[in-house]
Amino acid sequence: MNFEFREIGAADGCNSLSLGDASLTALKIFLRKEAKPLHAANLARTFVYAEKDTARVRAYVTIVCGQVSVSYLEPTERVDGFRYKDFPALKLARLAVDTSLQGQGIGNQLVDFVIGVALERVMPYSGCRFLVVDAKPTSISFYERKGFKKTGVVADDSGIVTMVIDLHRLLNTVNKVSTA
Ligand SMILES: CC(C)(COP(=O)(O)OP(=O)(O)OC[C@H]1O[C@@H](n2cnc3c(N)ncnc32)[C@H](O)[C@@H]1OP(=O)(O)O)[C@@H](O)C(=O)NCCC(=O)NCCS
Repeated sequence: MNFEFREIGAADGCNSLSLGDASLTALKIFLRKEAKPLHAANLARTFVYAEKDTARVRAYVTIVCGQVSVSYLEPTERVDGFRYKDFPALKLARLAVDTSLQGQGIGNQLVDFVIGVALERVMPYSGCRFLVVDAKPTSISFYERKGFKKTGVVADDSGIVTMVIDLHRLLNTVNKVSTA
């Protein structure tokens, strides 16, 4: 099967993503009903991993602008001298990989794509210090592997945890590695 990664398109098939667990139905419904109109309206941008021949979407990631409350972060994670109550951030709003394709590195690549967008496309032109995600309990360790840290704030009683990457520190690390 041949796949391509690109922004979501009007002709994409968004009805057949399989995620197994019923608790993940919201991710399927978002793709089916909301991803295209929100993308077109610039309210949430979605990028898909789709079958080349059929345009069936088998994985997707959605990005929005966001913010993270300074009070969510440990004192060591905060930025000295910043006097506002929220840090500007980019939010990884949705991420899903079809059950049949999980464990093959696609989720990893989709998160790397979002990190790349933040570092290369957003940060050079806009204040944007953190990448933030509201992680479901079953995906917390997946995001920890990617460098996200739990803020300790549970977004609601479903166990969802807000997690962040400090993009400025990440950029400095990348720059140190590339100049070494
Ligand atoms: C979480 C999810 C996106 C991961 O995608 P994936 O393509 O299966 O992940 P990858 O194959 O890229 O895995 C990358 C690494 O994370 C690990 N990993 C994958 N899913 C994991 C999980 N749920 N918990 C902990 N580790 C996980 C893999 O073992 C792999 O480790 P390695 O680099 O040492 O080999 C995918 O399982 C999914 O769509 N789950 C259902 C929806 C969901 O939970 N979305 C997140 C909403 S917050």
